[in-house]
Amino acid sequence: MIIETERLILRPWGEDDAEDLYTYASVPDIGPPAGWPPHTSVENSLEIIRTVLSAPETYAVCLKENGKPIGSIGFHRNDLAEANDEYELGYWIGKQFWGQGLIPEASREMLRYAFEDLGMNRIWCGYYDGNEKSRRVQEKLGFVYQRKTEGIEVSLLGEIRTGHSSLMTKERWQRVELFRHQRKTLDTFLQNGAISRAQYDKSFGDLCELMEMQGVE
Ligand SMILES: CC(C)(COP(=O)(O)OP(=O)(O)OC[C@H]1O[C@@H](n2cnc3c(N)ncnc32)[C@H](O)[C@@H]1OP(=O)(O)O)[C@@H](O)C(=O)NCCC(=O)NCCS
Repeated sequence: MIIETERLILRPWGEDDAEDLYTYASVPDIGPPAGWPPHTSVENSLEIIRTVLSAPETYAVCLKENGKPIGSIGFHRNDLAEANDEYELGYWIGKQFWGQGLIPEASREMLRYAFEDLGMNRIWCGYYDGNEKSRRVQEKLGFVYQRKTEGIEVSLLGEIRTGHSSLMTKERWQRVELFRHQRKTLDTFLQNGAISRAQYDKSFGDLCELMEMQGVE
């Protein structure tokens, strides 16, 4: 399966990606926040491609401009997502690409794919205590916070952590998509001069409140 977004191609990992994977996954700010250790060598990255990233519904996040992988995104089943119509979404992206909204962009398309093509009804997403960047990604996507869980064993790092989980149901996702569509319409009205900035701000505020979409982008 190959998934396309405005700036990205999501496609399965291949053994040829080991060097690029090592470049990004050896940086200590990437794996540990997600619960896994930094990669130690290109050979280690190759092993991870063979054993972990070859799992179904796991995709290399590649820049459209050169096709090279810069991160990873995928669905898996675990304690949060146990039923056949549920998945958990996981993601990371190379540090030099942070802050460009690339993971939200990839995730939006993954959500569409999960609900429309894979027949899923619930997508979970989690983050460990203190991972504000990932918390914010989930908020922007419209996930709804569910609960805090203490005493989670992070076996690959030999640590005990507190985790937070959030959920996107199919119904919520349809409302998020509608909200984003309505916001785009407002944006167009503002750009055309059909409404003033003050009218825009008022309408946008009302829309967020009415649809319960505070913080969603
Ligand atoms: C979490 C992560 C995937 C976000 O991806 P991204 O494509 O950068 O997402 P965004 O561009 O939407 O940025 C999300 C938030 O990160 C923060 N952020 C962005 N760039 C940053 C930077 N250079 N330094 C610190 N924080 C930054 C901002 O708060 C931003 O929110 P905003 O859009 O409201 O400003 C990425 O930071 C990452 O790979 N982190 C390490 C691995 C990880 O934590 N994975 C998730 C495990 S649950």
